Amino acid sequence: MSNRTIGMWLYTNSGGDKIAKKIIKKLKDRDIDTIDNINLRHAIAKNANIYHNGVKVNKLDLFFSYNAGEQTQYQTYLYQALNRVVPMINSYESFALTEDKFHTSFVLRNHGVKTADYKLCHRDDGHELKKIIKKWDKMIYKPTDGWGGVGLTKIENEASLDMLMPFLNQMDLRYFYVEKFVDYDNTDFRVDIVNGEFVSCYGRKASGTDWRTNVTAGGSVFMREANDEIIKLAKKATKACGVDIAGVDIIYDREKEEYIVLEVNGIPAFATPEQEKMGLNFNDKKIDLIVDLIDQRTKKKG
Ligand SMILES: Nc1ncnc2c1ncn2[C@@H]1O[C@H](COP(=O)(O)OP(=O)(O)O)[C@@H](O)[C@H]1O
Ligand SMILES: [Mg+2]
Repeated sequence: MSNRTIGMWLYTNSGGDKIAKKIIKKLKDRDIDTIDNINLRHAIAKNANIYHNGVKVNKLDLFFSYNAGEQTQYQTYLYQALNRVVPMINSYESFALTEDKFHTSFVLRNHGVKTADYKLCHRDDGHELKKIIKKWDKMIYKPTDGWGGVGLTKIENEASLDMLMPFLNQMDLRYFYVEKFVDYDNTDFRVDIVNGEFVSCYGRKASGTDWRTNVTAGGSVFMREANDEIIKLAKKATKACGVDIAGVDIIYDREKEEYIVLEVNGIPAFATPEQEKMGLNFNDKKIDLIVDLIDQRTKKKG
């Protein structure tokens, strides 16, 4: 078999640099070379090629993109172009899907995956929000492209919606996306899936005053096992979104008495060194599954 070379861009903070080294070594053991730190921010497209530090990125056998924090519009634009000629993990389509909360919920629902009830309407149809708050009692306004719990606004009643509307109207949005506020115990399950296989599960708990479990919103990570139902749901959501690597956020709806998927993350973080000390020891398993996946995807015919 001729030599294979892949490109990689993986976050370097929170232990990411160590993870990258392990992946590169394990790929090398399988005769796969890695060109690391291909940040498309510094790439230039010229005619048939996308150049990064003299490397024609479009000639690589695969590109592994794993950096949520530093993704700019320019990078995603090149990600999309590159994906037309090179296999990528995750594929651009699935990456873009999971970056959008409405599109994700829409696809999940159409694949029979339970999610929070939601409604999307044109910005001029604000009266739809009035109708829905009457029905739902409490809801959450969500920017469709946010992360880390940023911009989520809990709307407790009609009066608070009336207060919020002028601000939303000022923001020059194209649409409104709202979810029914799910009655849950302020904890969630984060389930990691790679190549259709279960990797690990841990829990997150909102801090005393907040209803959001995000660590960036003061939430904390704790050891928590998944049951078969949760794993099955996470796999189904991952498949529906078409992502090779996923971190599926699941909560238990106390009113409907069922697990629901809150979101599918296309770039779920590895356990940080601190979390590893706590006992979260899934990194090696996740690395092995990713290496297997890259190996499979780059196998050349004949
Ligand atoms: N419909 C909902 N009902 C109750 N809590 C929610 C709902 N949606 C989100 N949350 C809480 O807010 C957090 C962030 O929401 P999420 O949709 O995952 O956005 P982000 O991408 O910002 O993490 C979740 O982890 C959960 O704790
Ligand atoms: Mg989330």
